[in-house]
Amino acid sequence: MCGIVGYIGKQTVKPVLLEGLKRLEYRGYDSAGIAVFTEEGFKVTKTTGRVAGLTRLTAREPMKGTLGISHTRWATHGGVTEANAHPHVSSDGKIALVHNGVIENYNDMKRFLKEKGYTFSSETDTEALSNLVAYHYAKEPPATNGKSRLFIAVRKALRHVEGTYGVAVMCTDYPDELIGARKGSPLIVGVGQGEYLLASDVSAIVTHTSNVVYLKDDEVVSIKRDGFQVVTTNEDGVEAKIDKISWNVEDAELGDFPHFMLKEIFDQPASLENAMRGRFSDDGSTAKFGGLNMTPRELRQIDRILFTACGTAWHACLVAEYLIERFARIPVEVEYASEFRYRNAPLDKNTLVFVITQSGETIDTLGALREAQRKGYKALAITNVVGSTIARESDGGIYQHAGPEIGVASTKAFTSQIMIAAMLALYLGRLRDMSFADGVVMVQALKSVPDYVRKILDQADRIHAIAKRYAHHADFLFLGRQAMFPIALEGALKLKEISYIHAEGYPAAEMKHGPIALISEECPSVFFAMSGENWQKVVSNIQEVKARKGKVILVHSEECPIPEDLADETIVIPEAHESIMPVLATIPVQLLSYYIAVERGCDVDKPRNLAKSVTVE
Ligand code: M6R
Repeated sequence: MCGIVGYIGKQTVKPVLLEGLKRLEYRGYDSAGIAVFTEEGFKVTKTTGRVAGLTRLTAREPMKGTLGISHTRWATHGGVTEANAHPHVSSDGKIALVHNGVIENYNDMKRFLKEKGYTFSSETDTEALSNLVAYHYAKEPPATNGKSRLFIAVRKALRHVEGTYGVAVMCTDYPDELIGARKGSPLIVGVGQGEYLLASDVSAIVTHTSNVVYLKDDEVVSIKRDGFQVVTTNEDGVEAKIDKISWNVEDAELGDFPHFMLKEIFDQPASLENAMRGRFSDDGSTAKFGGLNMTPRELRQIDRILFTACGTAWHACLVAEYLIERFARIPVEVEYASEFRYRNAPLDKNTLVFVITQSGETIDTLGALREAQRKGYKALAITNVVGSTIARESDGGIYQHAGPEIGVASTKAFTSQIMIAAMLALYLGRLRDMSFADGVVMVQALKSVPDYVRKILDQADRIHAIAKRYAHHADFLFLGRQAMFPIALEGALKLKEISYIHAEGYPAAEMKHGPIALISEECPSVFFAMSGENWQKVVSNIQEVKARKGKVILVHSEECPIPEDLADETIVIPEAHESIMPVLATIPVQLLSYYIAVERGCDVDKPRNLAKSVTVE
């Protein structure tokens, strides 16, 4: 959701901000804007639509300056209009501000500020904050205790905010100061050589520096040209820690691929390798994790695990449930984070809570984590983004090391999450009943995943050809049993997110209890059939669809004895250990969804209405 880029340094600021916004496009947005501090005051340009449009508009404007703020807006309060786009300048012209998050008490603020003579020209909650900063600024004496009047005014204004924010602020009287603050919405400080950036995430700053300060909730930073100072909204003297970003510029670039989604699908042999790196025991019989912060003895005492997440990560939780129950014999529950956080669920004393999140910033997942911790449970996280809020607030966890995922539709992050779930199942299993020999077999299987994935990726052209034949359909069903059920859900989600085709995932047997009414020549079904206990049952379900003239695309494992001519299209994946089949079965449906979306001319990496990281409830 919304993206912030701010800059203070020696470079001409406009191209720096526009490049930063371009790199944040993947977060999802519908309008964009920029404000530059120039000798003639703030130069502000805003537009609805893409950053490319903003770049064209500003091309004619000199906008000379080395301090500025910019924003991509994903509309919450007020429609997608130029007036509602950020930056918002206070009605006295003093303060320019960009904001991510939601100011819940903005109506009260607005009422108060109108009485004080401030005026409003947008429908946003943000404009209330820019005017509130201006109000406090007008009241403040010039400077106190080494802090500028601006710094103090921002700090005071934020004390009155109910809700969430990441903000970047400038003032006409301070050509050498940029203020940032966060609560609930991410904001980082990039620390370069004689230059500093404020940004919503690292992708906007990697071309400038790999040194970063991850601001925490309630922190406010004042950045000058020669250094910065962090305080909280109420206290001074916060020690800011400078971390190193492990991602590099190439990771966040398209290279030869037409879309990030395709690049990330093809990244998977590497991202899966990275999920495993250094995580197997020397005797090759189990997995090991450095950051769980729990001893084997403590883990032995767990008798239930609750997994919670949103979207694709929730599907990863469902796979984890299957794998951990199957291989570690520990009961697992799965909940949507948005439900868990408000449901006040009674949890068993020996429950361990796990959240899964690519971004580490999803607000509902963060809320669920905090709720579990508030109740006294240990809450661990599987996450991809180092330094993210959830990575910092969890009691321990496992990093995915999948590299930046820019495509809005999650692909490599999902497979790396389910790979880690398989490794966790192995680790917990070996702490309980799983034998050394079974552990060794499972480790070997996991290690073979990248090669198997390469083999499936080699079928991309074939899958593209299938996609061409089916891209015109308006409805799809995705059907699978057991561990293939979450993959069916994930296949349906991928397709609807990027191609806007209506798609539903169901356990294959559930089809008869309702969705079968949808079956016709016009509604194809994607089935998953793997060797093992249930393939005959899946075959029966396919026959039920065929009997109703439904078209079938079947993803099946090599040795699964599928009757000839059963399906209209088949995609064959390698026969492998049960624990890795969910990863392997995911790849074809990622490719299928991608190619169908491309065939339909959809904007694959920036699907309508979606945001990469959902930081509002
Ligand atoms: O960053 P997170 O993993 O917490 O994100 C959760 C969901 O918002 C995310 O998986 C979403 O469903 C994606 N668009 C799926 O492709």
